[in-house]
Amino acid sequence: MSNHDVLIVGSGAAGLTAALVLAEHCRVMVLAKGGLDEGSTAWAQGGIAAVLDKGDTFEDHIRDTMVAGAGLNRRETVEFVVEHAPEAIQRLIDLGVPFNNEKGALHLTREGGHSHRRIVHVNDATGWAVQEALLKAANAHPNITLKPNMVAIDLVTDRHRAHPKGQRRAWGVYALNKDAGRVECLSAKATILATGGAGRTYLFSTAPRGATGDGIAMAWRAGCRVSNMEFMQFHPTCLYNLEVKNFLITEAVRGEGGILKHPVTGHRYMPDYDERAELAPRDIVARANDDQIKRFGLDYVHLDISHKEPEFVRHHFPTIYERLLGLGIDMTKEPIPVVPAQHYTCGGVLTDLNGRADLTGLYAIGECSESGLHGANRLASNSLLECFVFGDSAAHHIIEHWDEFDTPPALNPWDASRVTDSDEEVVIKQNWTEIRRFMWNYVGIVRTNKRLERAQHRIKTLKAEIAEYYAHFRVTADLIELRNLHQVAELIVKSARHRHESRGLHYNLDYPQTEPAARETILVP
Ligand code: FAD
Ligand code: SIN
Repeated sequence: MSNHDVLIVGSGAAGLTAALVLAEHCRVMVLAKGGLDEGSTAWAQGGIAAVLDKGDTFEDHIRDTMVAGAGLNRRETVEFVVEHAPEAIQRLIDLGVPFNNEKGALHLTREGGHSHRRIVHVNDATGWAVQEALLKAANAHPNITLKPNMVAIDLVTDRHRAHPKGQRRAWGVYALNKDAGRVECLSAKATILATGGAGRTYLFSTAPRGATGDGIAMAWRAGCRVSNMEFMQFHPTCLYNLEVKNFLITEAVRGEGGILKHPVTGHRYMPDYDERAELAPRDIVARANDDQIKRFGLDYVHLDISHKEPEFVRHHFPTIYERLLGLGIDMTKEPIPVVPAQHYTCGGVLTDLNGRADLTGLYAIGECSESGLHGANRLASNSLLECFVFGDSAAHHIIEHWDEFDTPPALNPWDASRVTDSDEEVVIKQNWTEIRRFMWNYVGIVRTNKRLERAQHRIKTLKAEIAEYYAHFRVTADLIELRNLHQVAELIVKSARHRHESRGLHYNLDYPQTEPAARETILVP
C-alpha cells in the first residue's frame, strides 16, 4: 500500500491546479492513465473566458452563461466562477502562459453565446500552452509526484477496510500500474477526481481517446450522486475528414467572422435558425448543422473564413491553418468541411462550491464534475475556467480542514485470486464500438423516446456481458475503460429518459416543449 497526503486522479487543468496549491502544504501524488499531457486540456483551442475588457461586466458573463445553460445553472456557482475568473487568469500569467497581447493588453477573442469579446487565448492552441505551464511548475515542485500510466479502477471506500465501519468515506483508489502490470492500493487522506469527460461514449467526438468517464463511473459505483448527464455537448464544427476524425475547428473561427454555408448552394443558413446566426450558443448551431446534413443528405457543411485577409486568418489560427494545409485544405482560399461531434460532458459528479462530492474526503473537479456552472449547455470557454476555479477552491478547502482528515486505516489489497488472463480480447473491442455507435445514433443531438428505449435495451444486454467478463478476467486498461464507458452510457440514457421536455442540449422530438421550471436530473445510486 502506498500512502500520500492527497491523491489526485488526473493531470489536466483541474488536477494540476489543485496540486500546485496543495503542494505548498502537503505531499501530493497525481495520476494520469497514459501520458501526463494526454487529457482534453492539451487539446483546447479557443481559450478561457474572463471579464477583462473595460466595457464588460460580471453580470453580463453571468447572464450569458445562464442563457446558454437554459436556466438550469445554479446561479451561486455561476457567480462564484465568473467573479474568480480574472484572478485565475492572473495565476496562469504568473506561471508563464504566453497569452496573446495586442497594443499592450490581452487580446480577447469572441465565441458563440458571449455578448462581449472575453476569451483570452494563446493563438488557437491555448490548452497546449496551459498544460505545458502547469506541468512545468508541477514537475519542479518537490511536494508533487507525477505518476503517468496509472489507471484508477475504483475508489477505495469503507468496504475495502480490513475492518469496515459503515462510514461514507473515500481513502484513495485502486489503480492498475501499466508499467509494472499490477494493481496497487493508493491511499490518501483526501482524494480528488479530476478525470475529465466522457466524450468517447460517442462514435464521433473531439475529445481524446481517454475521455471515458472513469471518474464519474467510479464515484457512482462508490455511492455518489451524479447529475445532468443527459446534457452532452456537441460542437458544431469538427473537421470532416475520413482519416482525421476528431480535429476541432475552434468556435473562434466563427467568432472572427467565419460563416456556415450549404456546401452545394453556398446558402448562409444560420440566420434562418437564429438571429445571432453563427454566434448563437453551440447547441443551436450544432442542431442547425445536423438539420442541414440530414435534410439535404449531405456528408458535411462548409465553414468559410476565406473572405478575410489571408494574413489575418494565418495570424489568428496558425495551428489549424497548418494542419488543414497538410490535409490539402487552404482555409484562406476555400471553405472547411465540418460536421458536429460530441465535445463536452456537462453532467458529472454532483459537487458543492468546494468541489466536495458525497463521500467524506472525496472531491471532484473539472469536466468530471457537475458544479452547477454549465446547466443544460456549457458556454464556450467556460470549462477551462471551471477547472482553474474549482482546482483552487477544492485545494483550499482541503488545506483549511486538514485537521479533520484522519490517517487512512488498514485497507485490503486488490484481490486478483479469482481471475485469469483474458482469452477473448475481441469482446472488449466489439462492446466498445457497439456502445459508441448506438449512443451516437440513439442518444445524439436529436433524441426520441423510441431511440432512448432502444439504447436502454442495448445497455441492459451489454451490462451482464461486461460484468461477467470483468468478474473473470484480469483487468487491463481497455477493460477498465469499457466498464466505465458502459456505466456512463447507462447514466446518460437514464437521465435522458427522466427528462420530459427539451432544454439546452437535450432535444427530444417527443417532448419539444421547455417546461417553465428548470429542474436538475439528480441520480442517486
Ligand atoms: P482533462 O484535461 O481531460 O484531464 C483528465 C486527466 O485525467 C488526464 O490526465 C487523464 O489521464 C486522467 N484520467 C482519466 N481517467 C483516469 C483514470 N482512470 N486513472 C488515472 N487517470 C485518469 N474548454 C475551454 O474552456 N476552452 C477551449 O478552448 C476548449 N477547447 C477544447 C477543444 C477540444 C478539442 C476539447 C476536446 C475540449 C475543449 N475544451 C475547451 C474543454 C476543456 O478542454 C476540458 O473541459 C478541460 O480541459 C477538462 O480538463 P480536466 O482537467 O477536467 O480533464
Ligand atoms: C473551441 O475552441 O471552439 C472550443 C471552446 C470550448 O470548448 O470552450
